[in-house]
Amino acid sequence: MQKNTNIRLEQLLHGGDYNPEQWLDSPEILEKDLEFFLKANINVITVGMFSWSVLEPEDGKYQIDWLIEIVNKMYQNGIYTILGTPSGARPQWLAKSYPEVLRVNANRERQLFGARHNHCYTSLAYRKKVRDINMLLAKELGNHPGIILLHLSNEYGGDCHCPLCQAKFREWLKERYKTIEELNRRWNTTFWSHIYQDFEQVESPSPKGEMLLHALNLDWRRFVTAQTVDFAEWEKQAIRDGGCEKPITTNFMGDYDGLNYRKFKEVLDIASWDSYPEWHRKPEIQTARETAMQHDFMRSLLKKPFLLMESSPSSTNWQDVSKLRKPGILRAASLQAIAHGSDSALYFQMRQSKGASEKLHGAVIDHYGGEDTRVYQEVCQVGKALAELTELRGTKQNSKIALLYDTENRWALMDAQGPRNCGMPYKETADKMYAALRRQGVNVDVIDMEDVLKDYQIILIPMLYMFRAGIEKKIRAFVENGGTVIMTFWSGVVDDADSCFLGETPSKLTDVLGLRRTEIDGLYDEEENTAIPKKNNSLSLNKKYTCRNLCELVKVSDAEVLMTYEKDFYKGLPVLTCNQYGKGRIYYVCADMEEAFYTDLIEAVFEKEKIEKPFSFIPEGVEVTTRQSKEDSYLIVQNFNREAVALDFPKSNYEVIYGTQSEKLDSFSTVVLKKVK
Ligand code: GLA
Ligand code: ZN
Repeated sequence: MQKNTNIRLEQLLHGGDYNPEQWLDSPEILEKDLEFFLKANINVITVGMFSWSVLEPEDGKYQIDWLIEIVNKMYQNGIYTILGTPSGARPQWLAKSYPEVLRVNANRERQLFGARHNHCYTSLAYRKKVRDINMLLAKELGNHPGIILLHLSNEYGGDCHCPLCQAKFREWLKERYKTIEELNRRWNTTFWSHIYQDFEQVESPSPKGEMLLHALNLDWRRFVTAQTVDFAEWEKQAIRDGGCEKPITTNFMGDYDGLNYRKFKEVLDIASWDSYPEWHRKPEIQTARETAMQHDFMRSLLKKPFLLMESSPSSTNWQDVSKLRKPGILRAASLQAIAHGSDSALYFQMRQSKGASEKLHGAVIDHYGGEDTRVYQEVCQVGKALAELTELRGTKQNSKIALLYDTENRWALMDAQGPRNCGMPYKETADKMYAALRRQGVNVDVIDMEDVLKDYQIILIPMLYMFRAGIEKKIRAFVENGGTVIMTFWSGVVDDADSCFLGETPSKLTDVLGLRRTEIDGLYDEEENTAIPKKNNSLSLNKKYTCRNLCELVKVSDAEVLMTYEKDFYKGLPVLTCNQYGKGRIYYVCADMEEAFYTDLIEAVFEKEKIEKPFSFIPEGVEVTTRQSKEDSYLIVQNFNREAVALDFPKSNYEVIYGTQSEKLDSFSTVVLKKVK
């Protein structure tokens, strides 16, 4: 059968998680749901993720007619189904009959039955039961015309320290290092007398045991990812063996760092994620930017449209405060996903549960059960907007700019002791760089060290503490061939086993950078320094900026110095440098700078490198992205300010296909323009 890696539907998807199994004894509710769905232009539901105990009430005794009936009924009404596999939450009987499926925590305590997402990914007993039910679902429903996508499990995550997982971990290490001597060498186990004689002695990290052997921590995290990917592969294989060849996804959790999502690339046909920003905690534009970076990360995984799999139509019930979204935010947030390359805006949940943990979580249809609710009306508005934007479906987002934000680097960087144990600003630096790029209105890919760099024009590289996957060679070649890089402090410190490089650092890049690091100063929370511009610097930077947290001291060999420290014993040493290498340029930012610095730096670099921007001026709080098909090009403009703002729309060449183009862009409104041919 030919492999179909895309959803064969012409619409942007609108709908979300639906739990009809909770309402099987109330057919009138299910009937009413359908009416609600149709009125709100819902065209897809996601079912099955938490249905296992209804689908298989006893070991080997299946009951799936109810699900087939729902899929049929929806399909007859033009609503498609994303079919979830139920491995995210197991029935009681399964835990009782096969206790090994229960997860063991880092303290080596086996969990009792309960909650969800807490099974062992290694247990063959678990795998077998998952395989059986996945195969059955694939056989009974996989080729139903109403099923458009298979959804593996739910938010894979966490780790298991049971004996089965320990054994697998040792196998994985053996595969990686071949001999115990090599493992000792790479992990530097002579430190604190930790030399292993045999792989059998290696244990996963534990608060009761070893937590400070960085290479062990790093490899454990890698193993947990590998084992989870292997489990996902296993689930997928069962679906294929059940005769279903439809595309496959699993829902990721945005900035969750328990797994390296990149490693799922081979398993997935479509990337998807669950977005739950804490709206109204910070200024909306900041929340919007942080969410946008997650969208871009998801799109960059497979470099094609992704799906927003879940979002709350109202508040959540698990954040500190269940904040309502102010009017207009639901539509703005849904369209923001589309603006960043999603082909869907889906919710958790379609109907609010009556009892248990999520009974107070927002839903399209709440306990009141009528359509005259603010939330339902706003959902209808989103449905209408998505229908008007149908032609965006499947269009791509080309980007010449990338931000390198690497999960394994994050693990290692955050695990190290020093140079600041009260906060290493990795995410924060990435966020600042990302915001600065987005202020220019350009699309940004969020990539990692394993990605190909050569197709980009500019790459921003915050705090790349660990060098792996030949990144130093790739950066060298990229700059040599004419690319521009902006790299920051605390880069090129350790290798892929988290051992420090000997010799000059950033390792193997000092000639490209035209400098080497000599020291790094950790600043107390209340301390700061200032970066001052050098006269006639090549970017014409002329403002002062604050530096906090970390100030690196470098010794320049070739680079031009653009800014220097204003005080402390390193007064006069460089804060910003630029080196020409081959046909390209590489900038090095020595300190943790305030956001305004990155905004001005990137604006100046864009000007110098003549990067094309969709607008010459974008007011703060306005977000601009583009999506393209072979024939057409679209500009999506959103205002995340609480007030309307004036914006100079292009006077010609564009027609408005969504929203209203006037002198001012309303608060939380969206306008979509299409290039006229
Ligand atoms: C996650 C889960 C859902 C639900 C929502 C609630 O994203 O995947 O099952 O629990 O959170 O916000
Ligand atoms: Zn286990």
